[in-house]
Amino acid sequence: MWPTETYDLFPTLVQKHNISPQESIVQDILDDNDLGDHGIILGGMRSKSHKVLENYPKIKEQIQNSINDYTKKLGMDNVVIANSWYNVYFQGGSVRRHNHPGSIVSGAYYVHLEMPQSHLLIENPNPPELWNNLTKYNPIVEEIIVQQNDLLLFPSRLYHTTDPNESSKRVCVSFNTNYVE
Ligand SMILES: [Fe+2]
Repeated sequence: MWPTETYDLFPTLVQKHNISPQESIVQDILDDNDLGDHGIILGGMRSKSHKVLENYPKIKEQIQNSINDYTKKLGMDNVVIANSWYNVYFQGGSVRRHNHPGSIVSGAYYVHLEMPQSHLLIENPNPPELWNNLTKYNPIVEEIIVQQNDLLLFPSRLYHTTDPNESSKRVCVSFNTNYVE
């Protein structure tokens, strides 16, 4: 009788990096009184600028270095930050299920939490099957716990969401990437 062989195929890379807080980004965001609405944000607001990281070159450089580490591990061509914005969530605020079409790698940099930790819920990209027992093959979502100054990197095609924010304010800077032209 032959032994059973198992193939755990096609893992998905999500990375958490840590960014050293530099420049005045947190205070600048908290002082921004000209935020806009966005359809996927419930109980929160979004920056009107989509070039936010251009104003913070030291943070942008750290994030780009983290992206380079991510793409190197995947064996991908380099990608660069194309646009960046921030979302401010108030108490109870959350983001609807979404992904980032047109981008390769996306990320969320948690600049201000007001609690020891927060989270991102990343949806299983494999179609759901009926299951009786929870195994590593069938979760609907995986929860990634984050702390302030954490940076999450993930494939832009992955759908993600959050549960309602429990602190009075949570701020994250998000971005999309393009291949280098
Ligand atoms: Fe997102």
